Amino acid sequence: MAVALVAASASASRLLLTTNPGRFVGCRWVPQRRGSHGSQQKLRSSVSGGSVRRKDSCVVRAMDQVASGKVMSPSAGEKTDASSDAESELLQAFYAIPSIDKAWTIPSRKGEGGFDVVVAMSQVNLPANAKRTFLSTVYIPETTAATTPDYHWSPFPFEISGASLIVPSPSGAKVLIIRNPKDATSPTKLEIWGPGQLLREIFVPSSVHGSIYGDGWFEGVSWSQNEEFVAYVAEEPALSRPIFGQNASTSGQNSNGALEAGNWKGQGDWVEDWGESYSGKRRPVLFVANVSTGAVQVVEGIARDVSAGQVVWAPQAASSDTPQSLVFVGWSSYADNFTTPRKLGMKYCFNRPCYLYHVEAPVPGKEPSNAAPVATKLSEGVSSAFSPRFSPNGKMLVFLSAQAAVNSGAHNATNSLHCIDWPADGIISGKRQIRDVINVVQHAEEGAFPGLYCSNLIANPWLNDSSTLLLASSWRSQQVILAIDVESGTMTKVSSSESMASWNILGMQNSCVVAIESSPTKVQSLMLGHLASGDSPVKGGKEWNWSAINVPSLRFAAKVETAMQSMRYEILQVPAPMTDPLKSLSEGSGQPFEAIFVSPTGSINPPTDEARIESIPPLVVVLHGGPHSVSQTSFSRNAAFLSALGFSLLHVNYRGSLGFGEEALQSLLGNVGRQDVGDVLAALDLVIGNGMADPARVAVLGGSHGGFLAAHLVGQAPDRFTTAIARNPVCNVSSMVGITDIPDWCYVEAFGKEGMTNYTEAPSVKDLSVLYQCSPIAHLSKVKVPTLFLLGAQDRRVPVSNGFQYVQALRARGQEVKVILFPEDLHAIDRPQSDFESFLNIGVWLKRFMQ
Ligand SMILES: *[C@@H]1O[C@H](CO)[C@@H](O)[C@H](O)[C@H]1NC(C)=O
Ligand SMILES: *[C@@H]1O[C@H](CO)[C@@H](O)[C@H](O)[C@H]1NC(C)=O
Ligand SMILES: *[C@@H]1O[C@H](CO)[C@@H](O)[C@H](O)[C@H]1NC(C)=O
Ligand SMILES: *[C@@H]1O[C@H](CO)[C@@H](O)[C@H](O)[C@H]1NC(C)=O
Ligand SMILES: *[C@@H]1O[C@H](CO)[C@@H](O)[C@H](O)[C@H]1NC(C)=O
Ligand SMILES: *[C@@H]1O[C@H](CO)[C@@H](O)[C@H](O)[C@H]1NC(C)=O
Ligand SMILES: *[C@@H]1O[C@H](CO)[C@@H](O)[C@H](O)[C@H]1NC(C)=O
Repeated sequence: MAVALVAASASASRLLLTTNPGRFVGCRWVPQRRGSHGSQQKLRSSVSGGSVRRKDSCVVRAMDQVASGKVMSPSAGEKTDASSDAESELLQAFYAIPSIDKAWTIPSRKGEGGFDVVVAMSQVNLPANAKRTFLSTVYIPETTAATTPDYHWSPFPFEISGASLIVPSPSGAKVLIIRNPKDATSPTKLEIWGPGQLLREIFVPSSVHGSIYGDGWFEGVSWSQNEEFVAYVAEEPALSRPIFGQNASTSGQNSNGALEAGNWKGQGDWVEDWGESYSGKRRPVLFVANVSTGAVQVVEGIARDVSAGQVVWAPQAASSDTPQSLVFVGWSSYADNFTTPRKLGMKYCFNRPCYLYHVEAPVPGKEPSNAAPVATKLSEGVSSAFSPRFSPNGKMLVFLSAQAAVNSGAHNATNSLHCIDWPADGIISGKRQIRDVINVVQHAEEGAFPGLYCSNLIANPWLNDSSTLLLASSWRSQQVILAIDVESGTMTKVSSSESMASWNILGMQNSCVVAIESSPTKVQSLMLGHLASGDSPVKGGKEWNWSAINVPSLRFAAKVETAMQSMRYEILQVPAPMTDPLKSLSEGSGQPFEAIFVSPTGSINPPTDEARIESIPPLVVVLHGGPHSVSQTSFSRNAAFLSALGFSLLHVNYRGSLGFGEEALQSLLGNVGRQDVGDVLAALDLVIGNGMADPARVAVLGGSHGGFLAAHLVGQAPDRFTTAIARNPVCNVSSMVGITDIPDWCYVEAFGKEGMTNYTEAPSVKDLSVLYQCSPIAHLSKVKVPTLFLLGAQDRRVPVSNGFQYVQALRARGQEVKVILFPEDLHAIDRPQSDFESFLNIGVWLKRFMQ
């Protein structure tokens, strides 16, 4: 349910709606909005000494059809309002900033201690509505902590186009490039490159498998230790469709497979998919390819109702008689923590039970041995197991678990880390003992580790001591890098504890770490961390030294540089309001939560003079989705764009957010629309009380659950906001429950943990009324400010009808509403042009109502 703050078609789909009375001034139409915002205006006047603000004379580019409430699309080729040209130029400058997506570390072939880092970066290509990915390499010489080395970058980056996945082999001697087919009948292409040339190109016909998964969830491509085989996850071939017509009973097809005249293909049975972002995607299945012969074979022994993913090779057994084997994650077709035979939506939902399995690997080209292999469950007893990684010495299999999510029904929760000791002979018999390495943290004392919030380990997360594992995890409003000694379970923060910035891990080599650091006011930088030799990796954070490996001559537009230089941010501690005195709070849920405040002007201190309140930048409250997700102190170009337009931002990590311990997270279940709304208002009170915001100029912006909160806030606290902007918001849970791919979410968030047992595919009228009561639509009649909606027509998580129902109800009440509908977008609205049009309109809309 999360929509990150990232992220349109001016043409036919753009609606500009208003039903307010207005008048024409020359060719422009000026709405009379005083009436509908009377109390807002009064509040403003009292604060600003009665002066009439520009807000009143705002101009809408709209014609009479619009004024009468009819839908009008701008005429062909019409440009956006001239006043938005400057914003458009500024936003394009932010979009030109490259982002660092991945990096691979390759040991030095010179036999020295140094290594190469191949960095994959990307830039948005707006005209093509696509992303450009390009690679650049930097050589890191063997360093001593005291000296700052001279890094040698390759002279230019090179664009890799059309690649779905890029996977270097463990030694770095080869790289696999996967090119997925553009249509259902073309083959999938696997290219194996050596240091100087293409070694082999494998074409896999659609009758063997469809696209290879590169979705970051089922996705898994693994080179065997000897680099002779690759295991990967692909869509099983399409079922053949029935043929009807004259010769249908024989074959209906000629020898070329073409339909005979007079015959046609029917549809066949409906095949259920995994919901949001998996529309029409077939079951993920495992395959192994022989790199030198190009032979490809399916992995046998996996039950049909299991979707397989995240495959890795098990260590090569000491005896060569033992066949090579694979470990993978399997998700059953129905989530057994909810009583329903269906596939509940998978994307963003860590509460789907999953297990590790072990299976014998096929040898492509050879007939399978007579005893058919059968996949066996390795992680029985733990309701969730994913991201399997073997230690370099092959003695340990480590994995992450979201058992707290599976067991509570929350779509995301505090994770845990576990380990299975792997037998040297590679023979897995009977139940393996599972050791807990990091347990779920219920609540933490101030400054202490709040629990593990990591959903993915990098391909090789190990230091070369074979027992220290590094990962990135949310720690309150920051993302940090942690080093964990898997044998003892001790843990330390590796990323610099001095900064409030956020970190992510890219790769490791020897005892060096390559990472990214960024903040709301600073774009990503590539960082190198190293451990002085002899130091224990998990003793305090001090032994890690960090230095930047800056990409040479990386320049940004002057207006971006200037705007970013004056921005400042801080993390605020917000005391938890006591929402319901009768409800007994768990210790963790009474602890303070956080909000990130970003100021565009550099000053986070209030002006001393009361009269200067007008000089305080207008505030945008930004709310993440989920609700079990988090706003982090990392760079976001869309957020930075809004800051550059002159807005202060307040990202509220209301209770229920990740990174604050399990009790605080669980406190929101059953209380959505109340506790989270109260938390946002408490954070707003805090910044207003501190003189950091003008109470008369506050907007709220959010997507998904953040959009749910934006709509709730303008309904429940109509005098506190000037406008609300909602991206694919949840507006009416009682209607969403029947059409979303995750009806379980509606039950758990509205009823609490009990929603798991009371979940039903056929909600009773009583249940529907509870779902209605927690929805923004229950407060619709109190809304009195203009609202902007950005909707993705292909969203299966919060189907577009949910937003439209709310929009139509607001219009029927005479409220000003603007809607942009993106016909091809999903829940995240993250296709480059859609993202751009969304945030350009958000910026222009905010300027219109807030300055
Ligand atoms: C880290 O760097 C500082 C200088 O920047 C140096 O004094 C210190 O010895 C280094 N520490 C280690 C463990 O290498
Ligand atoms: C049906 O199949 C038979 C034998 O394959 C062939 O002779 C005949 O022409 C086919 N009829 C049509 C209408 O395609
Ligand atoms: C797979 O490739 C290896 C070389 O890497 C070759 O020796 C072997 O015969 C191939 N196996 C099959 C079954 O084709
Ligand atoms: C769920 O939590 C993990 C961290 O545990 C985070 O990486 C991921 O983005 C979260 N997913 C959503 C949808 O918020
Ligand atoms: C790990 O790498 C460091 C160099 O970065 C080296 O000094 C050390 O000996 C290596 N340890 C092992 C166990 O290979
Ligand atoms: C909310 O959804 C329910 C169930 O579909 C529906 O009966 C009701 O009319 C909706 N409310 C509004 C105001 O649209
Ligand atoms: C769940 O169902 C039980 C039995 O019907 C009922 O007593 C309980 O109130 C329900 N819980 C919720 C949160 O609706």
